[in-house]
Amino acid sequence: MVVDPFCGRGTTPLEAYLLGRNAIGSDLNPLAVRLSRGKLNAPKDIDGMVNVMKRVQELEDKFTLKKTQYSKEAKRIRRRSEKSPSVGVVFGKNVLEQLLFLQNELISSETKNPVDPFLISIILHSMHGSSDSYFSVPMPNTFSMSPKYIKEYVKNEGLKYPSRNVFAILREKAAIALYSAEEIEDTFAEIYEHNAEQFDSIGFEKSAKLLFSSPPYLKVIKYGQYNWIRLWFLGEDYKKVDEDLSDDLALEDYLDFMENVISSSRKVLDHNGLACWVIGDVEKGANKINLAEKVWERISGSGDWELHCVDEAPLGIIVDEIAPSKKVTRIWNSGGHEIWRKSKDNATEQFIIHVETQSEADLKVKELGETEYFSVPKGTSGQATPLDRILMIKPVGSKVFDIRLDASYEESDISDTSPNQNLFVLIPYLKWLMGQTTSKYKRYIRRIPKLDIVNVIFDQLNLKITEDDKSTSSTVKASILRKLWQEINNCNDSVLPKTKHKILEDILSKLDVKFSKKTDISGSSAITKMGVFKILVGIEKQKEVSD
Ligand SMILES: C[S@@+](CC[C@H](N)C(=O)[O-])C[C@H]1O[C@@H](n2cnc3c(N)ncnc32)[C@H](O)[C@@H]1O
Repeated sequence: MVVDPFCGRGTTPLEAYLLGRNAIGSDLNPLAVRLSRGKLNAPKDIDGMVNVMKRVQELEDKFTLKKTQYSKEAKRIRRRSEKSPSVGVVFGKNVLEQLLFLQNELISSETKNPVDPFLISIILHSMHGSSDSYFSVPMPNTFSMSPKYIKEYVKNEGLKYPSRNVFAILREKAAIALYSAEEIEDTFAEIYEHNAEQFDSIGFEKSAKLLFSSPPYLKVIKYGQYNWIRLWFLGEDYKKVDEDLSDDLALEDYLDFMENVISSSRKVLDHNGLACWVIGDVEKGANKINLAEKVWERISGSGDWELHCVDEAPLGIIVDEIAPSKKVTRIWNSGGHEIWRKSKDNATEQFIIHVETQSEADLKVKELGETEYFSVPKGTSGQATPLDRILMIKPVGSKVFDIRLDASYEESDISDTSPNQNLFVLIPYLKWLMGQTTSKYKRYIRRIPKLDIVNVIFDQLNLKITEDDKSTSSTVKASILRKLWQEINNCNDSVLPKTKHKILEDILSKLDVKFSKKTDISGSSAITKMGVFKILVGIEKQKEVSD
């Protein structure tokens, strides 16, 4: 079974399902839940498609009978929108009356027709966009602009409200969505509306082999406000949606939140399961925050999890390779400026639109009126960067996959029959840490957070600084490793073994570094210690340790 506690528009459960896995998705945003449910309930064969077409026909016939009633309501909404812009500025009268009817049939009165979730998701998808397969006046498909802005935009651009046959669009899009029934085995897929902090309360104890999920990042996206038009169709208050979601947390609260989420997910994950958390870096002003690393730092102390190290990610955090231009962040950032309308009563309905650059933002504000509008760089609330990391963790002792060594990680002078392969995987990273990267490894290395490397090196070598090693920060550990490297490099071969011994003893006592009991070499000779450290820095063969 594959699970995703932040399933959004349902990518993880859908892909898992298409691959013949059981899939569970969950999200606290009612829009995300409806979109995901729609995808998983798409017709899987011709019979299913016939049922969808019959249902669309049934709805269209009913609408024809009740048109006058909805026409009046649509007129009222459009009239009211002239003074106080709302959904009436988004759609022409003929579209609005069809949407009001469908809203009443599909949302308000919970019909039990099994094809309705699929139809609802097509309607949500088609709400706004710029071609004639969308219902609105031309506007972006990905996020909703503010009603006041739309009103002025329509006026300034001299736009006409398009007339659409919503039912015809539903038929067309439903037909495109038909996918082959043969690809899907006998599996189940379920979507829940649920807070990820209590993900375990949906049940399925210890049943997921894979968790694949991308949580919200700090204050990057307002899922409610940016989708107020679609949420209107669902009869939801977008402000309430934003209040409920965890999309406005500052760093410490975010880490608390993720700690709860990950601890809850532990109960759903099989003992030999794997959890992949896709967490993007965030820019806050001039600072770049590596959130994946922060989350790992926060949860590693629990002792419940270990990093899942594989060839591509020897340190458990992998950087995804998708080009920035193909990522959703390009929509949210697009240069990184937001235009806002000043508001006396601090109403939240202020956000207007994203623009590319500072100069574009200045121009837009001038155009709209500087007394009423202003621009802010997105960095003020935390801006998503195109860099996503996948933090791969598993319950301690999980046998999800064996750790294997990719040949490309081996130094030529190191035996590939090493009993401690993990150590050798670390060598290029250590060299990098010491500023001695060989070009061979650069490709892998630049993707790994330095502090992770330090922690893993300490773990792998059972090095301890104090009895309570966990309280020592990675930065302190990094400086210890650097100091060791320096001192060892200073010890050239002409230095007598005795002097070397003395130097090492001095360093170790000054730095208060201890080996843990498992590999206690405190009584061993300076030569052995030196051997360990040379191995540590990748300049000697593993053989020296056993000697
Ligand atoms: C980065 S998106 C996930 C995108 C998803 N992977 C997709 O393919 O569409 C994060 C999701 O977390 C949801 N969310 C925010 N706070 C939540 C919470 N406390 N519990 C559950 N879901 C939450 C948002 O509604 C949003 O859909």
